[in-house]
Amino acid sequence: MTREVHLTGREIFFDDDEIIVSKTNLKGQITYCNDVFLRVAGYTERELLGQPHSILRHPDMPRCVFKLLWDTIEAGHEIFAYVVNRAKNGDHYWVLAHVTPSRDRHGQVVGYHSARRVPDRDVVDDQIIPLYRSLLAEEQRHASRKEGMQAASRSVLDTLEAQGVAYDEFISRLQSGWRPGPTTSSGQPGALT
Ligand SMILES: Cc1cc2nc3c(=O)[nH]c(=O)nc-3n(C[C@H](O)[C@H](O)[C@H](O)COP(=O)(O)O)c2cc1C
Repeated sequence: MTREVHLTGREIFFDDDEIIVSKTNLKGQITYCNDVFLRVAGYTERELLGQPHSILRHPDMPRCVFKLLWDTIEAGHEIFAYVVNRAKNGDHYWVLAHVTPSRDRHGQVVGYHSARRVPDRDVVDDQIIPLYRSLLAEEQRHASRKEGMQAASRSVLDTLEAQGVAYDEFISRLQSGWRPGPTTSSGQPGALT
């Protein structure tokens, strides 16, 4: 099921030297966002504080990516993920997010932190958009949301595992110019079929 959200189809951009920052509590409710965040997303601080981070959710994002994100940070680890976000007016913007747990002085996780930079354009256009499209299609092929998400997660993680590439290595290899094999007949990048 897709949420009805207003989209303009217009992509917006931020500068290479800018970082979009937010912090959340353990439930993913926004507790801090910087000025770049507010400008790009088009919200005031008042509109965002206390809101779930899914306020930015774009319907092109596969659920399994967020599942992986939450599984990773709840296990106390960091994660890099390509994300397309929806601004308040329905425009969208791509980011490469680095999401980390924040700890208190006893080592207890007290919230999460995300710093987002401009992603490599070729990675987004040639790798991530086709990959996310195929994951979304996989998710939508199943009767229940949960089943669809699990199937899509499995398809990515199994393939990466079979090739001996962990997810974080896959993302960091993409950033450094490595590309998966040729596209297959299913339309997915070769390394992820
Ligand atoms: C620190 C942090 C930052 C997040 N940033 C975003 C974001 O920029 N965009 C987004 O759609 N989800 C973000 N999320 C994930 C959301 O909490 C949520 O899982 C996602 O939007 C999917 O929402 P849904 O499960 O309601 O569909 C973030 C989560 C955390 C903990």
